[in-house]
Amino acid sequence: MIYAQRLLDRLAASGHGTDVVLSAYAKTVIQQELPDGLRLAKGVESHGLKSMNAPFASGSNAADAMVVIPCTMGTMGRIAHGHADNVLLRAADVALKENRKLILVPRETPLNLVHLRNMELLLQAGATILPGNPHFYFNPQTVEEVADTVVARVLDHLGVENEASPRWREEA
Ligand SMILES: Cc1cc2nc3c(=O)[nH]c(=O)nc-3n(C[C@H](O)[C@H](O)[C@H](O)COP(=O)(O)O)c2cc1C
Repeated sequence: MIYAQRLLDRLAASGHGTDVVLSAYAKTVIQQELPDGLRLAKGVESHGLKSMNAPFASGSNAADAMVVIPCTMGTMGRIAHGHADNVLLRAADVALKENRKLILVPRETPLNLVHLRNMELLLQAGATILPGNPHFYFNPQTVEEVADTVVARVLDHLGVENEASPRWREEA
């Protein structure tokens, strides 16, 4: 969940409009992993899973991009197979059909054949699979710096300019 928090913080700072949808399990995982809860910047709207009012759940008002971070294998499987019975899954379905950027950040390991087949299908459908695999080559000192190595890659793929994390061979 630290990935989600750090991404939301960076998006808020970038000035991009952001909406949030939490799965039922996400709320439990937030309690475990973010002792102070998920902080949403002013202007960031959180939508209920069963809302009929989320604009981005319609192809007529699709978001420019969507990130599922972290993305469980359950959610990945449901998106891969067209289950769209809540706002999060419907929004992902819309992103694919409207050719918008859909970035899925799994952190499961190891992966079984079902996971890999689902990932293959999602890649073919146009999604970006960006595993939450941090890197360590600039010797990060804090958990936040480690997490930001992943968040930086997500922002890069969203096309959001960022200096969330040092780049390879970047002058300090
Ligand atoms: C204790 C526990 C730990 C879990 N850990 C993971 C995990 O690390 N990665 C994952 O993909 N699924 C994990 N799952 C499975 C998800 O909870 C399950 O796929 C669920 O349907 C996900 O719901 P959501 O994607 O709607 O949040 C775990 C389940 C339990 C009960």
